[in-house]
Amino acid sequence: MEQKIKDIISAFEKDLSDVDNPQSLEDLRIKYFSRNGLLSNLFEDFKNLPKEEKPKYGQLLNITKKEAQEKFEQLKKNLANNLDTQKRFVDLSLPGREQTIGSEHIISQTIDNISSIFKGLGFSVYVGPELESDENNFESLNFPPDHPARDMQDTFFINDKFLLRTHTSPVQIRLMKEKKPPIRAIMPGKVYRNEAISAKSYCLFHQIEGLYIDTDVTFAELKGTLVYFAKKLYGQNVKYRFRSSFFPFTEPSAEVDIWWQPKGKEGRWLEILGCGMVDPNVLDNVGIDSEKYTGYAFGMGVERMALLKYGISDIRLFFDNDYRFLQQF
Ligand code: PHE
Repeated sequence: MEQKIKDIISAFEKDLSDVDNPQSLEDLRIKYFSRNGLLSNLFEDFKNLPKEEKPKYGQLLNITKKEAQEKFEQLKKNLANNLDTQKRFVDLSLPGREQTIGSEHIISQTIDNISSIFKGLGFSVYVGPELESDENNFESLNFPPDHPARDMQDTFFINDKFLLRTHTSPVQIRLMKEKKPPIRAIMPGKVYRNEAISAKSYCLFHQIEGLYIDTDVTFAELKGTLVYFAKKLYGQNVKYRFRSSFFPFTEPSAEVDIWWQPKGKEGRWLEILGCGMVDPNVLDNVGIDSEKYTGYAFGMGVERMALLKYGISDIRLFFDNDYRFLQQF
């Protein structure tokens, strides 16, 4: 009996020293302390001992079991502590995570550049909603219900009264209804058109509208302002031209083209904005006296301005949000 106890204890100590995770700890518990475990079985053997040997072995067994249990509990504690520190362990030799610094999107930068040129000329900035009424987007701007000019702009209609604005010109209407002349403001924002997507057009783009209403505003002032603007943005040597055009809300109307010369390619004229003298009908529609006041308006495509300024060839790049593209500006 004594030898058996010794053997089990030395086996136990050996197994104990091999335990290094919760699973092997549990295996150890089952092997020695469970109901059919090696230590528990010793007590079965004890029952069959002759009476006179019982006191001696009884004591030995109890002490042995108690010691084994204490060792087991101690190991359990150590193991839990180790796991805990493992979890909290910070490997200071790991390389750090790179934190990249974002930057303003090239379209926002272009809007800011353009705005600051006009702010320098005394224009303030005003914004309107992208969901507009048919009235502000078309009717008040002198597009009669069946006017073919409505077809110029492929509209996303919400219902028969509301739509996604197709240009920033409805913000002119909002401004003129809200404020008395003199009015001198630019109005940047997103506009939507249901066009086939290509390198040159996208269903969404940005415009900056300009409006100046006062007494005695002339077409010459409009021209002077826009030429000043083009030179500020593209440099003194920019090649531009005014072409007569048509918009329902301006009369006379013009479009401005800029000569576009991509490296290694053939140059061509690229339209950057529409403009004209505010049609007296529009002033009447918003309750401004068209006998007393005149004004000019213009609207430019921001993506177009950026394409030209940075020599980008595809408008879709502005909307893909490809980090490699955005990073360059
Ligand atoms: N709203 C016109 C367009 O989107 C541009 C424009 C604005 C023309 C103001 C004249 C005056 O094409």
